[in-house]
Amino acid sequence: MSTTPSKNRISMKFIRAFEGNLGASEPPPIWLMRQAGRYLAEYRKIRSELGSFLDLCYTPEKACEVTLQPINRFDFDAAILFSDILIVPHALGQPVRFVQGEGPRLDPITSIDELPSSSGSGLDADGLAKFSKVYEAVSLIRNKLSSDKALIGFCGAPYTVATYMIAGQGSPDQAATRTFAFAHPEKFQALIDLLVHTSTFYLCGQIDAGVNAVQIFDSWSGPLPDDQFRRWVVEPTKKIVAGVRAHHPDIPIIGFPRGSAAHAREYIAATGVNGIGCDTSMPLSLMSADLGDPNILRQGNLDPLLLLNGGPALDARIREIRDAMRGQRFIFNLGHGILPPTPIEHVQRLVDIVREPV
Ligand code: CP3
Repeated sequence: MSTTPSKNRISMKFIRAFEGNLGASEPPPIWLMRQAGRYLAEYRKIRSELGSFLDLCYTPEKACEVTLQPINRFDFDAAILFSDILIVPHALGQPVRFVQGEGPRLDPITSIDELPSSSGSGLDADGLAKFSKVYEAVSLIRNKLSSDKALIGFCGAPYTVATYMIAGQGSPDQAATRTFAFAHPEKFQALIDLLVHTSTFYLCGQIDAGVNAVQIFDSWSGPLPDDQFRRWVVEPTKKIVAGVRAHHPDIPIIGFPRGSAAHAREYIAATGVNGIGCDTSMPLSLMSADLGDPNILRQGNLDPLLLLNGGPALDARIREIRDAMRGQRFIFNLGHGILPPTPIEHVQRLVDIVREPV
């Protein structure tokens, strides 16, 4: 049974990009990964008023305010829920802290049996209460956001979230996690399966609360060889996409397997995502020409370091990406999150160039 898209959905440029319904001379929609964050003075102010990063995530009014800050300033076409991919391990009962200047720290686990909130398949009341705070933020944001802007929900992909759960922090090569997966494949599979289950549930909750699209962040998929990429990235993502679609057949789903341009065709064909986030290293020739599916939406892929640096090279690259993607299903974005020292004027310049008449 097909569902009729609501009036709101039709008026969103972000949604029309997925449907191939942008006019020939219409600029693409634009939003930026990590658009709510420390490069904004108004974010730093709220952040300093609240005790911890997690307090901000679990206080719906504040999460709402921070989500809307970049929309108010730059008029982006989409807002992304202010939260973090590590809310899922936190809801599963794993202690998570955000240490200023160092990034996230978790008490590492070696088995899902160590997760107090998980019965192996779901969440306890405390975990559900944490998710409820996020859903509350979603409905507040959706009520305040203008109807022509999309609200994006998200989760981390199981592999990327598992790397933090096992290593207890981010690492350049994910060696601890990859070694663990070789030594204990059945334990690692059980963790991935739990994350598939919990993330599917979490995304459906966000959609029920009002998000218009979701993105699955696989920030650390890049170094995996093909067999592991298939097992730990493609298979779990495919299950999440199928699980979400069973309840919400029309929701746009963007996958972001960062650093995995060489696997992009397989990822798109096998997972069933509607859109692919392209990181900085994806060649423009590949992003604009052939990822094996003429209907796949591409999102990306300006280098955040170039945005930080600015100048004529920035202007030229913005136009190069925009022009290469003209007429395609495309959303302008960075190839990874915006960097905290990025000057506000460079972001405004980016938006102005993407929207200049052609
Ligand atoms: O604006 C948005 O994009 C929405 C909010 C958002 C955050 N994190 C807020 C945040 C989103 C979508 C994320 C996703 C996320 N979190 C990812 C995937 C995307 C990526 O960047 O690869 C990952 C790997 C994480 C885990 C994480 N959270 C790290 C590694 C860090 C520390 C790095 C840093 O920038 O400090 C965080 C903390 C975090 N998440 C901050 C923000 C705004 C900074 C914390 C602070 O304000 O003190």
